[in-house]
Amino acid sequence: MSEKRSHFTSRIGFVLAAAGSAVGLGNLWRFPYLAAKYGGGIFLLIYIILAVTFGFALMVTEIAIGRRTRKSCLFAYKEADKRFSALGPLSALIPALITPYYCVIGGWVIKYLYEFIIGHDTVLASDAYFNNFITVSASGSSNDPMVWFFIYVLLTASVVLLGVNKGIETMSKFLMPILVLLSIFIAGYSLTLPGAMEGLKFYLIPDFSHFSLSTVLGAMGQLFYSMSLAMGIMITYGSYMKDDNSLESSVGQIEIFDTSIALLAGLMIIPPVVAFNGGDPSQISAGPGLMFGVLPKVFQSMIGGRFIGILFFLLVFFAALTSSISLMETMISILQDTIKIRRVTAVVSITAFVLLLGTLSCLGYGPLSHITPMGMSFLDFFDFLTNSILMPIVAFLTCILIGHVVGTRFVEEEVEKNGHRFGRKKLYRIMIRWVSPVILLVILLGEVAKYFGLLAI
Ligand code: PFF
Repeated sequence: MSEKRSHFTSRIGFVLAAAGSAVGLGNLWRFPYLAAKYGGGIFLLIYIILAVTFGFALMVTEIAIGRRTRKSCLFAYKEADKRFSALGPLSALIPALITPYYCVIGGWVIKYLYEFIIGHDTVLASDAYFNNFITVSASGSSNDPMVWFFIYVLLTASVVLLGVNKGIETMSKFLMPILVLLSIFIAGYSLTLPGAMEGLKFYLIPDFSHFSLSTVLGAMGQLFYSMSLAMGIMITYGSYMKDDNSLESSVGQIEIFDTSIALLAGLMIIPPVVAFNGGDPSQISAGPGLMFGVLPKVFQSMIGGRFIGILFFLLVFFAALTSSISLMETMISILQDTIKIRRVTAVVSITAFVLLLGTLSCLGYGPLSHITPMGMSFLDFFDFLTNSILMPIVAFLTCILIGHVVGTRFVEEEVEKNGHRFGRKKLYRIMIRWVSPVILLVILLGEVAKYFGLLAI
């Protein structure tokens, strides 16, 4: 039905592409403020434990399903068991809803990068700059978020157009090492700033008074988001993975990548923000506004701040780009599994779709701000619908499918293919059958309770 399926040429190519997908805005923008909000060290500890258990089990499952079926998520579940075919369209909906708004945020990132490069760092640091930027109406100028959104989508689409090897694999092999170096450099620099130690203590030393059910809920949700789970990406990338590559060790390396960059992001951001505020950590928990609102002010106050600002937003840009590429590629593979079309036609159609749907999120703070689905801006609404509702449901049903319907052998055989050892098999079985479904239900119920104001976190 479809063109011959592409393959990553090497194991390292697969690992870097999947790590590129996992390392994204979630690590750099979401992780630091959640860690700060939920008690620093204690959040980190819970996060790491969850990564090597819950995250591990779900990621192994998705990659194995993809490689075993050689299908995108739309048909992979059906191939595993016909009764689960409805899971296909449900999961295919997720990247279709996420990609557009993710590219809107990607547009904000390149706008900030551009302004830092041309030396407008003082302007970026002014109060309400971010708010004015995202609420502006379409003007076609460099202050128009639509312009940056379009540029960002076109950048993503051009890499995807080049294909799995020449585009995604080559790009990941080039960008991921740079990303690691940039992270280490910026984190190192942050720690040398006067007053940084206060922030470091706040970040690393567990504060048990902040420990609550919300800490665990926050860590579970973030992990899920950060590892690009339940959005069809790992199934798609798994379907491009060669049979002789070790699945288990690849997952281990992706986890190390993702978690290290998240931890480094905290080191980059928390100490300077705390130092900037004279030892007061409250602004870190400011939430999403941290990266675009607070950080430019912090950079402005540092020696060499403009240079660090350029490097920081370059890093965020690379991280976001490798993630949006994976989201768009997932949509391409879904389309190509459904109808026989050339890659270029698929990329053009998906790009048009992303531009159309993303426009709602992009204008949702300005001209469209009077439309508020479920009481939220469009961007928040799409984020809530996918991350809080659809993704936990899809992941929960995936656990039931593998753990209780087709049996864990379905995944284990794939992991053990070509004589590979499945070292964490016992842990895997317990996680996928019992622990992960419970965690996923807790995430789902917690998010719904939060929405209805029944849980204050
Ligand atoms: N895992 C990536 C990140 O942390 O940014 C990609 C991603 C996560 C995309 C969650 C979209 C999303 F909703």
